[in-house]
Amino acid sequence: MTGSDDGDEDADLGDSGSERVGPDPEAADAVQEFYGRWVGLYDLIARHTPRIAAGRRAAADACRLSPGDRAVEMGCGTGANLPYLRSAVGPEGLALGLDVTGPAVAHARRTLDVPGDPALGLVRGDATRPPVRGPVDAVLGTFVSGMFPDPAAAVDRWCDLAPGGHVVLVDAAPSRRPLAAPLNAAFRGVVALSTPPTFRLRYDEDVTRMLDDRVTAAHRRLSDRAEAVATAEYLFGFVRLTGGRIPEE
Ligand SMILES: C[S@@+](CC[C@H](N)C(=O)[O-])C[C@H]1O[C@@H](n2cnc3c(N)ncnc32)[C@H](O)[C@@H]1O
Repeated sequence: MTGSDDGDEDADLGDSGSERVGPDPEAADAVQEFYGRWVGLYDLIARHTPRIAAGRRAAADACRLSPGDRAVEMGCGTGANLPYLRSAVGPEGLALGLDVTGPAVAHARRTLDVPGDPALGLVRGDATRPPVRGPVDAVLGTFVSGMFPDPAAAVDRWCDLAPGGHVVLVDAAPSRRPLAAPLNAAFRGVVALSTPPTFRLRYDEDVTRMLDDRVTAAHRRLSDRAEAVATAEYLFGFVRLTGGRIPEE
């Protein structure tokens, strides 16, 4: 990975080969339209939800970065995690954000000093087939793996990028705690409002179940691939973190 990955080029989302890893074209369009339209509102929520800054710092800390390291954030959205990654890698390192939604990347580029800071980079592309040359020291994905049809395959690719480094996932999913069960109905409403409309039946319980299945599959694959796995739950179990070191081959 180099700073030259930085740029506005569109990754080719159309030629996804024979495996069903990336978003289908309809879902990819829906994701970009949805997040593109709501980018300003999303950024407010992403930065100012109570206690979210502490959560983002914890996610960046779990990446175990040192000065000079290179980190990539998959599905970086408007870049709310990037300042924490940038602070950990320092001026000699690189914190690269990757997202499929052009307006989100443009927003991050505007609000962070990307052109003026060689240790920050942004690229538009598909996180399930990241256009990133490894190896990297850490891969972070927050609130994104539930959007992939085959999250375990995407996590495999992220792990392949980081031999000897860390991969960290943070995702929202229904709480498995018995005492939080009554709150799962409210969670379903939040999921409905924050789900791009092409994910059919988005007001249906099935969407919450699909999210749970995908997040569980992503975190399980990371646990299988990593050593020294750490897990944590926040917000009554609605937010799950899994992080671990990927063994070198
Ligand atoms: C819920 S937002 C999370 C953004 C950010 N990680 C955060 O914590 O604020 C999900 C983001 O994932 C991006 N995304 C969804 N599918 C993607 C894909 N296949 N490749 C890259 N980005 C994707 C969307 O564009 C959106 O910005």
